[in-house]
Amino acid sequence: MTKMRSILRVVEPQPVREGAGVKLRRSIALPTLDNVDPFLLLDDFRSDNPADVLAGFPLHPHRGIETVTYMLAGNVAHRDSIGNAGVIGPGAVQWMTAGRGILHEEMPQPVAGKLEGFQLWVNLPAAAKMIPARYQEFHAEEIPELTTPEGARVRVIAGQVEAVQGPVTQIEVQPTYLDVSLPAGARFSLATPEEHAVLLYLFEGELETAGQLLRATRLAIFDAGDAVELRAGSVAARFLFIAGKPLREPIARYGPFVMNTREELQQTLRELRAGTFPPA
Ligand code: CO
Repeated sequence: MTKMRSILRVVEPQPVREGAGVKLRRSIALPTLDNVDPFLLLDDFRSDNPADVLAGFPLHPHRGIETVTYMLAGNVAHRDSIGNAGVIGPGAVQWMTAGRGILHEEMPQPVAGKLEGFQLWVNLPAAAKMIPARYQEFHAEEIPELTTPEGARVRVIAGQVEAVQGPVTQIEVQPTYLDVSLPAGARFSLATPEEHAVLLYLFEGELETAGQLLRATRLAIFDAGDAVELRAGSVAARFLFIAGKPLREPIARYGPFVMNTREELQQTLRELRAGTFPPA
């Protein structure tokens, strides 16, 4: 029997300055919400004022996590210590597995004054925290899109909706990552593995689920169940739908490093000071 998930918690994104001074809105990795296992951070950097974002994220390290950058408008230019360089453009995703370590920079390039995108941090299980760094990067045209009979437009970045499989694969937490646009009043439902954490980041319009009405911009965290049933309100809705398998392991975090113990964090800081980070 299907158990519909209801909303356990609604989070209002909080203004934060990050990197060299980028103004963004954060809804996971707050004093009131450290993480939603296996998700460690969710940032929304939509802005039509270049001054909010141009400082960017100059060279910085990561270890023990995956950073997922998904763009709607404008570009983010990136460069890293394993030889990758490029631009993440509108509709593109970069799923970066930092593993044992990477140094990279991420520099926003607004187009017509506008930059819109999101960054999600996904935890790695203890057994995979020290794997070599790697990337999965897909351009807009490589991300499949389906339209349901009710007119829902679903871009499938990771996971599966009906017969459509997202291009990002072989990720430890078996994520679902969708960008969903719903016309006013349209319904959308989706089965979700029962043990997975399920999140929805409503960034445009209104959405009703399990008798609750959400208005943008809000993060909704769902309770246990095996499906969600959503309906746009009197205006169209657009949201990120994110799910993944919780790791249920200890979390020790310090800035861009997320490990399992304080000793592992201290070891990482020692490597950074000694100039041996990232390890060859
Ligand atoms: Co980074």
